[in-house]
Amino acid sequence: MSNLNHIALNNLPNHIAIIMDGNGRWAKKKGFLRAFGHENGTKSVRTTVEACAKLGVKNLTLYAFSTENWNRPKLEVETLMKLLVSSLRNELPTLQKNNIRLNSIGNLSLLPSSIQKELEDVISKTKNNTHMTLTLALSYGSREELLNVVKKISDKVKNNIISTDAIDESIINQHLYTHDLPDVDLLIRTSGEHRISNFLLWQIAYAEFYFTEVLWPDFTEENLYEAIISYQKRERRFGKTSEQIDTKSTK
Ligand code: FPP
Repeated sequence: MSNLNHIALNNLPNHIAIIMDGNGRWAKKKGFLRAFGHENGTKSVRTTVEACAKLGVKNLTLYAFSTENWNRPKLEVETLMKLLVSSLRNELPTLQKNNIRLNSIGNLSLLPSSIQKELEDVISKTKNNTHMTLTLALSYGSREELLNVVKKISDKVKNNIISTDAIDESIINQHLYTHDLPDVDLLIRTSGEHRISNFLLWQIAYAEFYFTEVLWPDFTEENLYEAIISYQKRERRFGKTSEQIDTKSTK
């Protein structure tokens, strides 16, 4: 029986973020080049996006390419870039059919112009879609993002646009790439690694973490459901006591 039947649709994570890991190992295990793993990884992207949309998850963010990934062999970077362009081109009908808005975060100016153009095109064509926001983290690094926030706010203080006293969490949120997204509720990482790898460090402050041994190209709808079920079994206290957050409690 599918795990789908065990998901409480009234308690879905509002924002799921995924570190899609294990493409290279998946390919190597099968005796293929790493590129084959990335190609098959795109299938899991499609499955996951459609499954989230079907369930009613409002925000899905995928770590597709980190600032550190630029240091990979040139051929692998080129393969990933080509895959991204072709995926964006091919997935537009799926995004439209499912009423999904595409969004992107990261230092996009470093991406090849072909990707920037394709991204702009899909982002603009899907900008009025309302069912779900799919965010691709591309050339993204959380420390770089936070560094930019510090610089932008410092400039505003220097130019008397805001005062130091006015700097609060909401001002920081407004200057992040993710300014129009809610905090992450559920962070999933595949492939058995237990690391954050410079992903959404500010935004995951109260996220629930879910690590699975499954390599990203093997990640299925059922694996997504398992992660959501695990999330739904947890008590999110946000620093409070169990009694305080139990709405049925008289305390
Ligand atoms: C990590 O696996 C994966 C990536 C660095 C890239 C993720 C990209 C895709 C899934 C394909 C295209 C994406 C979209 C959004 C269409 P790894 O190469 O680090 O694997 P390893 O740890 O086994 O070496």
